[in-house]
Amino acid sequence: MTSPKSILHGGYHHNLSRSWQAERTLTKDMLMYPLFITDDPDAFESIDSLPGQYRIGINKLQAFIDPLYKKGLKSVILFGVPLKEGVKDATGSRADDPEGPTVLAVRLLRQHFPNLFIACDVCLCEYTSHGHCGILREDGTLNNDLSIQRIAEVAVNYAKAGCHAVAPSDMMDGRIRAIKLGLMEAGLAHKVMLISYAAKFAGPWYGPFRDAANSAPSFGDRRCYQLPSNARGLARRAIKRDMEEGADSIMVKPGLPYLDIVREASSDLLAGDYPISVYQVSGEYAMLYHSAKAGVFDLKTIVMESMNGFLRAGATLILTYFTPDLLDWLDEEEKR
Ligand code: PBG
Ligand code: ZN
Repeated sequence: MTSPKSILHGGYHHNLSRSWQAERTLTKDMLMYPLFITDDPDAFESIDSLPGQYRIGINKLQAFIDPLYKKGLKSVILFGVPLKEGVKDATGSRADDPEGPTVLAVRLLRQHFPNLFIACDVCLCEYTSHGHCGILREDGTLNNDLSIQRIAEVAVNYAKAGCHAVAPSDMMDGRIRAIKLGLMEAGLAHKVMLISYAAKFAGPWYGPFRDAANSAPSFGDRRCYQLPSNARGLARRAIKRDMEEGADSIMVKPGLPYLDIVREASSDLLAGDYPISVYQVSGEYAMLYHSAKAGVFDLKTIVMESMNGFLRAGATLILTYFTPDLLDWLDEEEKR
């Protein structure tokens, strides 16, 4: 006879007893929605590489967010997408343009949605003519010192515009310290969260985003600053360094292929005392979306399973393009 202790099925036969198997369950406050804000004020363009996502002009932003906010949207992360001619230059000087899409969007969202948490992605690649995330030397390699100086300046200007968090995704060395010092000098360090894209791995998972944000490099790739996918040790070192430099949250990106790194980051041996963010990136979104569309699996079921993966691994904040769907799906689950 089977030993009594071998019988597990009894503990999860019912819907409710299954829900009790979770250490933590997804809630709306764990979701951060990435938004592409473009510099044509009246634009509302669908993005071919990210079906269901839009490049939104400042005049269309309030009407877009309003229904989501009513459904319980708690936070967004902004990406500026300059499409006008002549905006990009070698140093990304328009990244913090006071009339640019990011700064205008922060102001507008603060004004109309008082309880919305607003983060700004900080990077130069959307604004540089060469499409790299920092400032380059003549030989095409990075000038790290100039890059972090500029990135800190941009972060401080987004913070001055009123965002609640800055999230540098550039992967330059030492930018967390530079940004934190900048925030301190500006008297903003006590009220602006610094979310570090600490373990950000290089690769094709960001392809749809670069199409959406018009930010693909014009030559070469990002392998000399984003991490090699095999590099567990480097990821640990980058996480430790960014903790030392003053990050308030550690991010792992992409999500699904790097759940081991999320688990490790959230463990007491590494960054267990920090909120751990995970970015379900554009390629993950497109993969799940297109697979579901092709009939491979049901979209809601597969996205919920991916969320459970992030929670099991220890994530506390999930950046995902599925946020609008999840707001609906979580309401449906509540009613079951
Ligand atoms: C900018 C940035 C990127 C992403 C977030 N910030 C693109 C990149 O590094 O090439 C990727 C987000 C996504 O793919 O959804 N540095
Ligand atoms: Zn970049």
